[in-house]
Amino acid sequence: MSIIILAIESSCDDTSAAVLRDGVLLSNVIAGQKVHEQYGGVVPELASRAHQENIVPVVEAALKEAGVDRKEISAVAFTRGPGLMGSLLVGASFAKGFAIAAGVPLLDVNHLAGHVLSHFISEPGKPDRFPSFPHLSLLVSGGHTLILKVTSYYDMEILGRTIDDAAGEAFDKCAKVIGLPYPGGPHINRLADNGNPHRFRFAKPHIQGLDFSFSGLKTSFLYFLRDEMKKNNNFIEEEKPDLCASLQHTISDVLCDKIVKATQITGIKTVTVSGGVSANTYLRNALTALSVKKKWELFLPAPVFTTDNAAMIGIAGYYKYLRKDFSALEDSPEADMQVGK
Ligand code: KG4
Ligand code: ZN
Repeated sequence: MSIIILAIESSCDDTSAAVLRDGVLLSNVIAGQKVHEQYGGVVPELASRAHQENIVPVVEAALKEAGVDRKEISAVAFTRGPGLMGSLLVGASFAKGFAIAAGVPLLDVNHLAGHVLSHFISEPGKPDRFPSFPHLSLLVSGGHTLILKVTSYYDMEILGRTIDDAAGEAFDKCAKVIGLPYPGGPHINRLADNGNPHRFRFAKPHIQGLDFSFSGLKTSFLYFLRDEMKKNNNFIEEEKPDLCASLQHTISDVLCDKIVKATQITGIKTVTVSGGVSANTYLRNALTALSVKKKWELFLPAPVFTTDNAAMIGIAGYYKYLRKDFSALEDSPEADMQVGK
């Protein structure tokens, strides 16, 4: 009999539901929240309210698109954390209500493990290409920047993490400084397409081992702009493409340097990348060039699986289902949930 998972993701500002049959994705519906743009960042209270409005129609749409009746669902997977507490609660409560009504088990999924396992989503009509174990995983999102050693669907160990801002946060904060809307990463990416990545130089952090730091870069960017604006009040407006391209180059360089170091330390040459920043085309090209040069097997997610989505929660839930690793009804969301060891 088929295993059909309904998955719910609501950790930040995207409400998403997906349906998977035996690990094959049948639908993946994502409702973004435009309401935060005007505030320059996610407003938690507005996010949970928008999740409440979105969750029922998003789940309905996911079931309809999948052509699956609610009676066929084998289990409901939901994001338990990390994320915004109010947002997580909406998804978790919905998942629990659905599971009780349908009489099926619940699967609680760690959002970060979901990003890492997004490389195991099968899509109908597309050949499967999955990373082997062990592999290294560079997880770069708005809230996290991690290098993990992934030894199975269930076991991952953190080898490096940011000691301050996440890579996505660096994109978003710098974007805000030059007047771009939230989230700034995609805007920087687009503007950088017409810019020179080697025009300006920003301080790269020198952090030991496999850890990252991005707060110095943000400050260096800010001070640089302040000095240039004293000389030319239109500097930002005139130089936006080169500023974006140079900033993007610096962030990409920092990420590439550390993942190269991780392959050298561990001897592992299978590398996956995930999280919102893995949508960045400059980073993708840089990693692709490195993989050819260094003979890595590189896995880049399809753009739709880079930012938050329920498909990745569904695949992580599917592997928990295979182990019968169900969660209890009283398991509550954890805003600071950790991944790996
Ligand atoms: O994984 P995600 O959707 O949410 C978190 O779990 O944080 O990642 C969102 C982050 C934001 O910081 C956003 O600016 C960044 O991913 N991002 C990008 C791009 N697309 C999204 N950063 C750089 N270039 C992009 N194309
Ligand atoms: Zn995420």
